[in-house]
Amino acid sequence: MTNSTSRPRFATSFGVIATTVGSAVGLGNIWRFPYETGSNGGAAFLILYIIFVLAIGVPLICAEFIMGRSSRLNIFGAFRTLAPARGRTWAAVGCLGILAAVLILSFYAVVAGWTFEYLAESLTGHLNDFSGPGRHTAFDSFTAGPRCLFWTLIVLAANAAVLLGGVRKGIERVSNILMPILFVLLIALSVNSLFLPGASVGLSFLFRPDFSALTPAAVLSAMGQAFFSLSLGVGTMMIYASYFSSRTPLIRSALTTAALDTLVAILASIMIFPAVFSFGASPEAGPKLVFEVLPDIFAGMPAGSVAAAAFFLLLVLASITSTISMSEIVVAFLIEQWGLRRIPAVAIHTAICALLASLCALSFGPLAHVKIAGFTFFNLFDFATSNILMPIGGCLISIFVGWFIDRSVINTQLAPAPAALIRIITLTLRYIAPAAIAIIFIAGLV
Ligand code: PFF
Repeated sequence: MTNSTSRPRFATSFGVIATTVGSAVGLGNIWRFPYETGSNGGAAFLILYIIFVLAIGVPLICAEFIMGRSSRLNIFGAFRTLAPARGRTWAAVGCLGILAAVLILSFYAVVAGWTFEYLAESLTGHLNDFSGPGRHTAFDSFTAGPRCLFWTLIVLAANAAVLLGGVRKGIERVSNILMPILFVLLIALSVNSLFLPGASVGLSFLFRPDFSALTPAAVLSAMGQAFFSLSLGVGTMMIYASYFSSRTPLIRSALTTAALDTLVAILASIMIFPAVFSFGASPEAGPKLVFEVLPDIFAGMPAGSVAAAAFFLLLVLASITSTISMSEIVVAFLIEQWGLRRIPAVAIHTAICALLASLCALSFGPLAHVKIAGFTFFNLFDFATSNILMPIGGCLISIFVGWFIDRSVINTQLAPAPAALIRIITLTLRYIAPAAIAIIFIAGLV
């Protein structure tokens, strides 16, 4: 076991923001958010999403930050040491978080692998194979074939390489480098989109709300998207906060993380929707939006291959800073609870995820017929984590901090924020967040 004095810390406050924003910004913003917005009515969805981020997301990030920094442990250890009684029962909630992190990485690595393939194809000038009338076949035959498995394993290897560098030299350094590049690329690509002919139709879809599009299902999706995008409920923000200095202001960091994450989701939509409308594609293409619609769009753009390479590089960078954050939950658990060194901890985690991710990768090909409760492995892991484990984890973390952690710990951790703000956050964690999550969770399952 490591004690808190020998534990690593992030070196700078820039590192704090780069790592937490790096975790939050990922495929969830650039791949998932635009297609969710596109399928759920555009601007109205965006407004609802922002409400969820502010009303539930920010308090929950604060809750994870409080648990992480006050315990200076992984999610399992944090629950066990902070619980005033029944530490073992609460530690089981930590096990749920660790399980969720393993499952998320296992399907996320597959989609990240697709982005690696698309980047490689753009760089070698072959992205056109994925455009035109044959694009469905091209995408389907790629995801069903061995290259999909290959890229999934490459993602896990790249992820392991960063983790082996440790907290400062691996996670923090890589996030410090990748996040600024990501912002520059994103801004350049969204400005480029604004100059496309007919961009205004895409922008008005994104910014002119039509509240009649807000079905109950859209409300559920907006909340699920907020959880996924802010990496909530599994202990990511908790493990990163355990590496914060004791002077890092938690509420301000939570707000900055949520604001930058939302900004990226909006910029990603500004980059994608004008292009979608300008080239006559459908904004409702669903999960395939980025992979089937964009290659067509890039093919028809001046200097489209440069834009394509930049875009898929953006996705690759965003996905790696997220995979390292979900992995660190498990690696820190293995180091702190099992007494392993970092190398074997990373090796064990990577081996388990390689096995599970292979099942997910193959569920588009040889394992497509293997169904559990009607889901392929890929869909099962996606559904079980986003719709079940993350909301349950988030709800229990909220209840735990709201009801079971000493008020003085909360006040000390959230200082120097104004008392009224601390009170609003505590009340939200006690009542509003658990109630909202429970209602939406139950409605979602029904
Ligand atoms: N927030 C990441 C994204 O938007 O892509 C996904 C994610 C990262 C989910 C880390 C969960 C997690 F623990």
